[in-house]
Amino acid sequence: MNGNYDYKVTAAGRVNVIGEHTDYCGGKVFPAALSLKNTVYVRANGTNVINLSWTTLPDKVSLDVNKLDGYKNLKYGNYQAGAALMWQRAGHKVLGCDMLMDCTVPFGSGLSSSAAIEVSTIAALAVIADEKFDPVEVALKAQQAEREYAGVNCGIMDQYASACGKAGNAMLLDCKTLECEYVPVVLGDYAFVITNCKKPHNLVESKYNERRTQTEEALEILQKHTDIKCLADLSVSEFIKYSSTLPEVIRNRARHVVYECDRVRRAAAAMREGDMKTLGKLLNESHKSLSDLYEVTGKELDALAYAAQSYPACAGSRMTGGGFGGCTISLVEKDGVEGFKKHVYEKYKEQTGYSAEFYDADISDGITVTRLN
Ligand code: GLA
Repeated sequence: MNGNYDYKVTAAGRVNVIGEHTDYCGGKVFPAALSLKNTVYVRANGTNVINLSWTTLPDKVSLDVNKLDGYKNLKYGNYQAGAALMWQRAGHKVLGCDMLMDCTVPFGSGLSSSAAIEVSTIAALAVIADEKFDPVEVALKAQQAEREYAGVNCGIMDQYASACGKAGNAMLLDCKTLECEYVPVVLGDYAFVITNCKKPHNLVESKYNERRTQTEEALEILQKHTDIKCLADLSVSEFIKYSSTLPEVIRNRARHVVYECDRVRRAAAAMREGDMKTLGKLLNESHKSLSDLYEVTGKELDALAYAAQSYPACAGSRMTGGGFGGCTISLVEKDGVEGFKKHVYEKYKEQTGYSAEFYDADISDGITVTRLN
């Protein structure tokens, strides 16, 4: 497959342990890069055209490097076009090349296939232009592509994790400063299990953007009462003091963000201390908050998380990623994983009719570059 390409460049999908819908509020998140990834086999072709092909699709797409803003409506290739355009606009060289894409991050799973595609595309372009790149800049340009090209007003979590992940580590990322602490994922007798609810997504972008706008409304009102730059600046006790100034729905959204930020801090401490019971409890609390207050779970993710939580060997389970479909992350005793999968599959199928899918993924590096020839 890769015989004729010069480089193999990869970027990771991610799972978020905890800290959901906090990144665009200046909060901390706690994701980890996965061995599910997008791989780009790339070679320069001496033209002004980026030729895209896929290992899993019959489609072939060509992008003119001088007209990169014209591909927003492509079914396949729009993420690559957006990523290349933002990289070019930032003053980097974008050369014609052939790219063969091999994506093992399931699409629409909430494990950031789009970030993996955007980040690996930019890294591949930098590599064939012989340019040393800063993975954080790659992440920021990939985020810009998602926002301005794909139309999802996302935070920085997915692209940062995809670019800067480190094998065996979760990343405690402060989305206000972009400071990142790597925390070894040492779970003792436990393991993370990622499960896809398999419900097809719809209208995710507009619902996501609406949530973001609601947090901005909350911030605007709260700033009349207290000196904060972002919602994550508000402590739980300050929130209690000022929450009555917010209309009900906006108050619920803000309450989720403030308490979720606090949970991230406690979860990272629990992971460091090897306290799996506390970590599990925080996952459950996060899910409940995302369901009741932030309203981004839906029937299927609720059924999946609650089926998981009802299994004795499971310390905790929650939806991961943007929501409205996608995956859960569960903390399960290693000896109980097989029984857990059977229990969750059956219970979830009975309740929703969907067949849950389980992924075996390791915690892996972000961008990798390998020279092939
Ligand atoms: C999506 C976005 C991220 C983040 C999560 C929710 O994955 O791309 O920026 O907001 O949702 O935590």
